[in-house]
Amino acid sequence: MAEKRRVPVGSLQIKIFAGFTMLALVLLLILNTYPLSQMRNQLILAREVEMRSDFGAYAAALESASVLDYETAASVLSILDIGRDQRVLVTDQRGEVIYDNLKTSDVIGKTVLFSEIIEALYGKDIFRCSYTAEAFSYRTACAVMRDGVVEGAVYAYEYDTESADLLRETRGEIARISFAVTAMTALFIITFTTSLRRRFDRVLQGVYQIQQGNYDYRIDLRSSDELGVIAGEFDKMSGQLAKNESIRRQFVSDASHELKTPLASIKLLCDSILQAKDMRVEDVREFLGDIREEIDRLTRITEGLLYISRMENGANMAGICDLTHTLVRASEILRGSAGAKEVEIVCQGLPEAAWVSGNPDMIYQVAFNLLENAIKYNKQGGKVYVALEEREDQTLLHVGDTGIGIREEELERIFDRFYRVDKMRSSETRGTGLGLSIVGQCMEAIGGHIEVTSTYGEGTCFTAYFQKAPEMAGDDGTDTDGEGGQRA
Ligand SMILES: Nc1ncnc2c1ncn2[C@@H]1O[C@H](COP(=O)(O)OP(=O)(O)O)[C@@H](O)[C@H]1O
Ligand SMILES: [Mg+2]
Repeated sequence: MAEKRRVPVGSLQIKIFAGFTMLALVLLLILNTYPLSQMRNQLILAREVEMRSDFGAYAAALESASVLDYETAASVLSILDIGRDQRVLVTDQRGEVIYDNLKTSDVIGKTVLFSEIIEALYGKDIFRCSYTAEAFSYRTACAVMRDGVVEGAVYAYEYDTESADLLRETRGEIARISFAVTAMTALFIITFTTSLRRRFDRVLQGVYQIQQGNYDYRIDLRSSDELGVIAGEFDKMSGQLAKNESIRRQFVSDASHELKTPLASIKLLCDSILQAKDMRVEDVREFLGDIREEIDRLTRITEGLLYISRMENGANMAGICDLTHTLVRASEILRGSAGAKEVEIVCQGLPEAAWVSGNPDMIYQVAFNLLENAIKYNKQGGKVYVALEEREDQTLLHVGDTGIGIREEELERIFDRFYRVDKMRSSETRGTGLGLSIVGQCMEAIGGHIEVTSTYGEGTCFTAYFQKAPEMAGDDGTDTDGEGGQRA
């Protein structure tokens, strides 16, 4: 089991966290300033409109009175209903106070030189507002005119804590909401990024495990989002790697075992010769014959393994080949072993030439191994039927026999490397179990495939599907066949 490695601190988590936090801060800043300043401006504007109109009307009413004195100012103010929460002053044209709505006033008769009053005496309409956390202070002043000349000024001052309270409450409310939103957002971001980081962590852990050769590790992230898809694909990949690794291990172990058996026999035979005293020459020759047979077997196995290794290392699969010619050549080479078993090879109407695409040497391996097996696993005096079937873009090679047949449960295993049905019995037939595996690999390499049907005790039929050569080569009898062929 590979060790568990720590995943480096997630900069992704930090980035997402920082990004969200920045965004939240900006939003909160806007939320805590813009609406409040808008509200303050609205309050001031509304008050300005009101005060300007009230005191404009008051000045106009004073203008229409015959004299500007305390009584007139007081009576007009009571009619207009102004001045409940306000301090209202009326001055003459020199700024001397002639009316003050404050009962306990001590400014009547005095000159007050507020800037607003001075400006009003110059004929301007003034409105000013200052704001502190506790209150709004509004000041307004306007001139009282008579016959186009400034006769005096009306000044009003208002200290408004109510609006300030409202503004403060609203600010507090927004701050509370902001705090709650911040807390919730932070909680959400932390939960989200932590879960994201954990999931990344698991995927990365999978990568580390595979790096260390632990192909059985599965991320098993059950989720349908992008990360889940990556994890799923990764698990499929590690599954495939595990399968390949187990095939490779099995192969190495099988190959070593297959090589060990003949070596052990050779050693045993040598020891027998060395240990025997006065062994007859004929016996020594017999032992040497056995040793030779074992060496032949070793040669066949190593040749088979070399052939497989060459194919796995990317042998050239391209080319074209005449199947008829290849079959004829293979059956000529196998004529001896067929004769020894009195097996007759029946070729059923082979065409003069059947060009298929694929490396000629690989196709020879296919033809040779199928024919060799059909003879080897036949009964004494049996038959081997060879036929070609032309389809639109395929050529099918059928190799049937009247041999021992293969049980159904064995059928899917006969293409495995070193697999031999009934090892003891087939040891008589000098096989290595590599032939059909080479056949299967060759067919796959050249873009075809192979099928098999069999009735146990009656016979077997292999059908190889070849792709026809793109353009039928000229019928000049030359063939690009490879030499020899692998008797595996
Ligand atoms: N035509 C056949 N009839 C019966 N059994 C067969 C035939 N071809 C292959 N087999 C079985 O499949 C096994 C694998 O074949 P192959 O890979 O060619 O190895 P071998 O070296 O034993 O011939 C053989 O050992 C044999 O048991
Ligand atoms: Mg074989």
